[in-house]
Amino acid sequence: MEYILLLGVYMEKYIINGGNKLYGSVDIQTAKNSVLPILAAAVLTDGKVTVADVPHISDVRNMVKILSRLGCRAEFCGNNLIIDSSVADCYEIPSELAHELRSSVFLLGSVISRFHMAKIAYPGGCDIGLRPVDLHLTGLKRLGVEITEENGYIVCKCDKLTGNEIMLDCPSVGATENIMLAAVKAEGVTVIKNAAREPEIEDLQKFLNAMGARVRGAGSGTVVVQGVKELFGCEYLPIPDRIEAGTFLIAAAMCGGEVELKRACAEHISSLLHKLRENGCKIRVNNDKIVLENNRRLTSVKSIETQPYPGFPTDLQAQMTALCCICRGQSIVTENLFETRFKYVPELRKMGADITVINRNAFVRGVERFHGATLVAHDLRGGAALVSAALSAVGRSEILDISHIDRGYGAFEYKLRRLGGDIVRLSV
Ligand code: UD1
Repeated sequence: MEYILLLGVYMEKYIINGGNKLYGSVDIQTAKNSVLPILAAAVLTDGKVTVADVPHISDVRNMVKILSRLGCRAEFCGNNLIIDSSVADCYEIPSELAHELRSSVFLLGSVISRFHMAKIAYPGGCDIGLRPVDLHLTGLKRLGVEITEENGYIVCKCDKLTGNEIMLDCPSVGATENIMLAAVKAEGVTVIKNAAREPEIEDLQKFLNAMGARVRGAGSGTVVVQGVKELFGCEYLPIPDRIEAGTFLIAAAMCGGEVELKRACAEHISSLLHKLRENGCKIRVNNDKIVLENNRRLTSVKSIETQPYPGFPTDLQAQMTALCCICRGQSIVTENLFETRFKYVPELRKMGADITVINRNAFVRGVERFHGATLVAHDLRGGAALVSAALSAVGRSEILDISHIDRGYGAFEYKLRRLGGDIVRLSV
């Protein structure tokens, strides 16, 4: 009975035989968290937008479905995605699409700018605790948008958008991006204070300016948008994915071996590199290549605390906790951004991890090795942490519900196999 239930719920799984060291090079994909707001921004112009080297992940596929629903034409040409929004004719994102993708909320800014109307079901995405959108909505209201809630939908209307000063209560990535999108064609100047400083914000600024927008300050904490009348098509290559890069470095540190990342940006993950060096990894950086070498059991770092950029990223917290589990000594990992981002902990315990979670803190006492087990991925980054743990473990593991991992890692098992990892995907 239980087996039949599992068959219905878990469509694909990974089988991993742990213990292999990882050797070789891996190409880092274009950043998921840059590509998604850039695709949302494509709605702002009638010109053709070409986004280069788009990763083959389900979050992108879902965003493309949403764009198509809005009436945009979106098609892949190799790895490039070409979007033609000149034929967009719909301002509504229904719940079945919005629930697939939290980033659908970024479309509020661009859809309201285009149609002066937007209707979007409350967004979905990873189940990592309360993910409110109050800052997005407060910001849009400051630009003149009237917002109501109707049967699970956020409904936005305006006669016109007018620039204003907006002070964010906390430096939310999504709210900063959404307000930028709404402001680029607003009348006058918008100043976003306490803006997020993540590299993806700077990337969105570059993309918008490539379309003819006038945005400056991204990365500094204050973003200034001078509204323009028209935006044009452009071609754009977004930045490399710092979270995918970090995930591969941590996997290499856990399994041992020597792994080179190609098309990576060391500056974007300096907080991680700092911790991995403290752990005892050897790391070399040469332009856009990062090489990590490790051939011994690592030593714990005392504490890791997630913070907005340039602090330690919450999106690498789970992977780093998995690493702490097999280091010599004890660590405290503190999650400051999202509640319930420790859902993967019971899974790591099945593999022999010694972790106690109290509120926002995970107290980790290092054990010699993980052992293989049957595990369930509950979210994207927690799922990636389980993969690294299983690759480093003694014995065989199964990881169920890997659709979460597919949201953000393109060709994950293929890349890991090329490095020597024994990992296959099976349909169940
Ligand atoms: C983005 C990233 C996600 C990353 C996160 C933090 C994308 C597609 N996703 O998510 O991978 O984990 O940044 O780096 O880029 N908050 C509010 N009210 C709001 C908005 C946010 O209180 O209206 C709070 C959140 O609950 C959270 C904090 O602000 O505690 C940071 O969230 P935010 O930066 O908005 O994350 P996302 O944009 O959702």
